[in-house]
Amino acid sequence: MPLQILLKDIPNYHEIEVYRQHGGYHIFKKAVSKKPDEIIDEVKKSNLKGRGGACFPTGLKWSFMPKDNSMPKYLCINGDESEPGSFKDRQIFEYNPHQLIEGTLITAYAIGAQTCYIYIRGEYVKWIKLMQKALDDAYAQGFIGQRMKETFDCDFTTEIYIHKGAGAYICGEESALMNSIEGKRGYPRVKPPFPAQCGLWDYPTTINNVETITNVPEIIDKGGEWYANIGEPKHPGTLLFGVSGHINKPGVYELPTGTLLTDIIYKYAGGVPGNKKIKCVIPGGTSMPPIRGDQIEGLKMDAESLKAVGSAIGTGGIIVMDEDTDLVKVLARITKFYYHESCGQCTPCREGTGWMLRVLNRILDGKGTSKDLDLLIDIANNIEGHTICALGEAAAWPVKFTIQRFRDEFEARVGREIILPIANKVHSMRTTLEPLTDIQVG
Ligand SMILES: Cc1cc2nc3c(=O)[nH]c(=O)nc-3n(C[C@H](O)[C@H](O)[C@H](O)COP(=O)(O)O)c2cc1C
Ligand code: SF4
Repeated sequence: MPLQILLKDIPNYHEIEVYRQHGGYHIFKKAVSKKPDEIIDEVKKSNLKGRGGACFPTGLKWSFMPKDNSMPKYLCINGDESEPGSFKDRQIFEYNPHQLIEGTLITAYAIGAQTCYIYIRGEYVKWIKLMQKALDDAYAQGFIGQRMKETFDCDFTTEIYIHKGAGAYICGEESALMNSIEGKRGYPRVKPPFPAQCGLWDYPTTINNVETITNVPEIIDKGGEWYANIGEPKHPGTLLFGVSGHINKPGVYELPTGTLLTDIIYKYAGGVPGNKKIKCVIPGGTSMPPIRGDQIEGLKMDAESLKAVGSAIGTGGIIVMDEDTDLVKVLARITKFYYHESCGQCTPCREGTGWMLRVLNRILDGKGTSKDLDLLIDIANNIEGHTICALGEAAAWPVKFTIQRFRDEFEARVGREIILPIANKVHSMRTTLEPLTDIQVG
């Protein structure tokens, strides 16, 4: 059985008594016997990288928090999980909520946060209820809040609250998430200042993904070195790979980083229905650059290996598309999502996502020209790097890289522009969808 750190094959592990029978909440007791800096060092040693999409080193992020404990400090656990193709954090809420709570307690102790928020997308009613039940049980046994002092024989206490989002993708972006918790509109903030300097209510704040924090108890229990030796050294540990699309056994698979993409697809997720060929795989949620089917052989699933083929691990949400997939339609659908979710603060994102959608719809309607493909890449380039938050890249990358990597398929869907001699310039905007073999152009 593959190594299980996050999703364990133990019946009823989500129940507090079962979790306790397997050593649960003892790791926090071990943690408070150490100094906060020792916890941070252990996590640095583990080389744990954030699972929210950007792979930022977790221990390093924690070390940015000021050591001064005279002011309020906050910890936010990001469970907004709204990226299409990503559905892993919900598994933790459902099957391993106490490990997430224990990880939250250890993290809060390491950074000195007296208040923690677990931010969950509002539509995830089922998981909000399950998580609230787990929190209530942990409070009832004195593992959270004022009673922690006697339970764990320590000086540290912290509170944990669930904050429900209202169903906006942008509220997963860390600074929009903080605005949302403050009761404001979910607008991303301009950085710097970064959350560790000026976060929730302008106080130092750390934001981490649900999966990231669920790794922490095992790291503290078994040691940073143990964790650093799992999977790929530069991006160690296990990942929760959510596999969807044209796949026989869609689901979430916990596997070490560096597992072959073909093993995930064929060995674990049962291959493609009808044994069809794979045309395209999106490796980490829809905002990540797609990979061609002929690139997947031998490809390892970790941050470095994906970077080498011009993509990224993102949230580990793998979307498989077979040979019959209409990629123009797929791209238009993805673009519609980012257009809808743009918060509208920055012009390139607000306008550019709409322009890209309109051009893609024009192509779908059979009215596009080959110039439209370059126009799309041009718009994407003008969004990328010119916005307040990374939703700009999330919208631009699929457009830019899908067209670049599957140009033939897009070319086949657009007509060629007829460029007539200068005297007839007035006709030069005419387009046709028919092959122009017998017409002199240029
Ligand atoms: C538009 C947008 C949406 C995001 N949504 C999420 C999300 O749902 N969950 C998440 O953990 N991170 C999300 N992120 C990344 C967060 O801003 C942040 O980097 C992350 O929560 C940090 O946690 P980590 O260091 O543990 O990865 C999003 C980023 C952007 C730009
Ligand atoms: S990039 Fe888009 S979502 Fe992000 S702040 Fe700008 S307009 Fe809002």
